[in-house]
Amino acid sequence: MIRIAQPDIGEAERDAVMRVLESGQIASGPRVRELEEAFARDVSHTREAIAVSNGTAALHVALLAHDVGPGHEVVTTPFTFQATANMVLAIGARPVFVDVREDGNIDPALVEAAITPRTKALLPVHLYGRLCEMEALCDIARRHNLPIIEDSAQAHGAEVAGKRAGNFGTACFSFYATKNMTSGEGGMVTTDDPQLAARLRRLRSHGESERYSSIEVGFNYRMTDIAAAIGLVQLDRLGEFTEPRRVNAAYLSEKLRGVAVPPEPVEPLGHVWHQYAVRVPDGRRNELIAWLRERGVESAVHYPRILPDHPLYQGLGYDGDAYPVARRLASEVLSLPVHHRLSRADLDQVVDAVNSWAESLEALKQAPAVQS
Ligand SMILES: Cc1ncc(COP(=O)(O)O)c(C=O)c1O
Repeated sequence: MIRIAQPDIGEAERDAVMRVLESGQIASGPRVRELEEAFARDVSHTREAIAVSNGTAALHVALLAHDVGPGHEVVTTPFTFQATANMVLAIGARPVFVDVREDGNIDPALVEAAITPRTKALLPVHLYGRLCEMEALCDIARRHNLPIIEDSAQAHGAEVAGKRAGNFGTACFSFYATKNMTSGEGGMVTTDDPQLAARLRRLRSHGESERYSSIEVGFNYRMTDIAAAIGLVQLDRLGEFTEPRRVNAAYLSEKLRGVAVPPEPVEPLGHVWHQYAVRVPDGRRNELIAWLRERGVESAVHYPRILPDHPLYQGLGYDGDAYPVARRLASEVLSLPVHHRLSRADLDQVVDAVNSWAESLEALKQAPAVQS
């Protein structure tokens, strides 16, 4: 079976973990600091990076560090992994959803109308690894004096006009096992603001200003040196993972028939292809999923429902009809394998499987009607 995701943990990662285990320093220590420095320098291009235990924790502390709390609103997308908006709810604030564009990212043209005196931050998500239209979003944020918190969980290294995901405000990354780089579980918050960074470090560890002296409520969201050791090797290999994704995406877009391929990014570097999501209209998605599985190709739906349709959000006063583009995407998107471990033969197997399905539909359409 050609898998939709295949983490690549090699000898270098294993050696790095063994060295940590043998050092006796297995909790948060020098490897975590090294990973923070390397990530800020090589991935987000920010002054600061603060490692945490996962991407959800990153969102949690980022929102708190911007003093978002009860009575506040955060403008975000209804078409994302639920961690994004769930963390807004977790701190007692309200996610205000704005519909997306056909590429799946929040539509900047709709953001301004969603801003109220209660709005405390904008929380765009670089869905599937495609950078949002940040120039327009930054312009809105500036005019309304609002911070941007980027959910960059899927967008390690995405870049437009020389500016990286993670570099437009405060940003949250995930190193979950299937992400473009992993530490098993892990996350990172990035910022250029040293004061905010100090607060994020505090929130990560019990709100301590110094050892055994809490000045605010914080958590244990620390990353271990074991995870950081894996993350450091993966960071070194990030280009080796990302470039083939771009090549594979271009190949799929050229060869696939019968499904709508994802729009091209504005610049080639503007997308790191964490997911390659085609669109399958007319309610035929489940049919295609089964067809692919029979032909040895795994696929996945990111995501099958918009956030206001989750039971958690029902009864919270959202108008389910207000997000028509997101709703259509949720019913049509299908992620196909695009990761760096696919060979050309694997890609051809994916293409043949999709195209043979499209041809079978064509054949059905052209079959003469049965005489009654
Ligand atoms: C868009 C998005 N936001 C947040 C998260 C949460 O990250 P994590 O799973 O590391 O907590 C993820 C990943 O799972 C994600 O894809």
